[in-house]
Amino acid sequence: MEKHRIAVTRTIAQPAIERLHNVGKITIWTERQPPAHIQLMQMVKDCDGLLCLLTDCIDAHLLESAPRLSVISTMSVGYEHIDLEACRRRGIQVGHTPGVLTDSTADFTMAMILSVARRIPQAVEYARSGLWSTWDPGLLLGHDLLGMTIGIVGMGRIGEAVAERITAFGTNLVYHDRIQRTDVENKLNAKIVAFDDLLTQADIVTLHVPLTDQTHHLISYPQLKMMKPSALLINTSRGKVVDTEALLHALQNREIDAAGLDVTDPEPLPANHPLYELPNCLITPHIASAGAATRTKMAHMAVDNLLAGLKGVPLPYPVI
Ligand code: DGY
Repeated sequence: MEKHRIAVTRTIAQPAIERLHNVGKITIWTERQPPAHIQLMQMVKDCDGLLCLLTDCIDAHLLESAPRLSVISTMSVGYEHIDLEACRRRGIQVGHTPGVLTDSTADFTMAMILSVARRIPQAVEYARSGLWSTWDPGLLLGHDLLGMTIGIVGMGRIGEAVAERITAFGTNLVYHDRIQRTDVENKLNAKIVAFDDLLTQADIVTLHVPLTDQTHHLISYPQLKMMKPSALLINTSRGKVVDTEALLHALQNREIDAAGLDVTDPEPLPANHPLYELPNCLITPHIASAGAATRTKMAHMAVDNLLAGLKGVPLPYPVI
């Protein structure tokens, strides 16, 4: 029987790859940078299955070049890089990796909140640079979490996991979501509020929404103006949820106090971008889910989806 042909767009956990070797002939893109669109088209043209990442643009044009493709499995929870309509038209199954990265991402969000609130990157830099000459009661003062109001935008799996963690610091919780979460309200004493009210009330606004037409630039000039001048903005969701120019302006003019961004627009943020110059902006390279065990689990889930699709059975973690 002819073996399946499978394209994998980056090196992922080896045990997950081994599972694919048993069923098909695999082509793996082993370079550190993702394949260019044209290279990706070349890779998938004879393939039955594609295991991709969020850096691969899977559009209608690419699908046209891959007539045999029956399953696309992305090793990410987000799937805004895949043209779902085009996949539907072609009857291609699409899978993703939800749930598995919730804790890792929530842990990282907490790390970012604490780092920004307590100015840890500046403190590290200060000590390293030799400026530390005495204990100083006014040195590097940050924000105490105790008593703060935290505004969680998007009370899905990750929003809830952040809520669980941050209430242990003695904070008050408000959230905004299309769906009221009475379970979270009862468990954590959280209060649902209108989006504008969240912006005006919160000391820390943390974003946990997927990127959609509705959430694109959810935070722009008017929203930043509504926030308290002492507020912190944390984004571990998608870069395009925040208008980068508006944020730069707000940070430069101290319209808000500081920001922590694990995701940016554009991504990667070019090395000469002015946001890097700002001491009140902490930027990390989209690593919120980068726990070693989490990434291995994500790879296995992506393979589970791919194998199911190749067999023609429903995917265990389907998008469509
Ligand atoms: C995802 O999976 O969508 C994250 O952004 C990367 O871990």
